[in-house]
Amino acid sequence: MSDILVHTEAGVMTLTFNRLDKKNSITGEMYGVLADALATAEQSSEVRAVLIQGDATIFSAGNDIGDFLNKPPSSGESSVFRFLRGIASFPKPIVAAVCGPAVGIGTTLLFHCDLVYAGDNAAFSMPFVNLGLCPEAASSLLVPQMFGYHRAAEALLLGEPFMAEAALEVGLVNRVVPPTEANGIAQAQARKLAAKPLSVLIEIKRLMKKSQLPQLLERMGEEGESFARMLREPAAREAFTAFMEKRRPDFSKL
Ligand code: COA
Repeated sequence: MSDILVHTEAGVMTLTFNRLDKKNSITGEMYGVLADALATAEQSSEVRAVLIQGDATIFSAGNDIGDFLNKPPSSGESSVFRFLRGIASFPKPIVAAVCGPAVGIGTTLLFHCDLVYAGDNAAFSMPFVNLGLCPEAASSLLVPQMFGYHRAAEALLLGEPFMAEAALEVGLVNRVVPPTEANGIAQAQARKLAAKPLSVLIEIKRLMKKSQLPQLLERMGEEGESFARMLREPAAREAFTAFMEKRRPDFSKL
């Protein structure tokens, strides 16, 4: 079975992380599937909204660390950057259902969704600092804007996780729901969107995002360059090796 399930019904393309044994961590190949699915969804008249979901226990543990270590993204054409640009500039509505851990890109991709429904077990984190990396997905721009600088610093400089209620308070999620109901509620909301006039949805979303999109794409590019460079530097190598060896990283000399 594929690690990303793609299913279109009633105008909604549903993308489901389906790699539960590895906590839905995302490999380069999976980013490729996600990027291609978004490109198809953008073109297809059958798709009027997209839903991104995991299951009731886990959304995503973020980048597959082993995959990143072995095949670091080297250019803007890497599948991860293709996916990030695709989701940031996707013209139709995107809904997400998030339960359990949403780590790294599992959280930052949500900044590019239009509606987010979280299970009350959702745990968001952007622990880039603990991995010797900088934020991605324009989160260095979007997190301070949404959270306020000091809460952003807690999330990005300390890499501290935050739970569903805190995410609701800062406006990252629309509603907190029982985990077993999250995917169903998000699907119902996506179908409501799919019943609206598509050209009008596209125009409203374009107008809401218009002033920020160029700045956001520029920041994403800058973060991408730093991220790719930092992946090869000692702090990230120590963090990733420690993860594979199931020990705490030692940053004392870095
Ligand atoms: N990349 C690769 N493998 C991962 C992974 C990741 N990001 N996250 C989890 N896995 C793997 C584990 O290595 C483990 O594999 P194994 O069974 O072969 O040993 C399996 O998934 C289960 O993970 P485990 O840590 O035992 O599950 P948990 O329920 O105790 O914790 C998380 C879940 C998500 C909190 C925890 O796995 C985690 O913190 N993962 C790393 C997140 C991270 O730093 N992501 C990078 C962001 S850029």
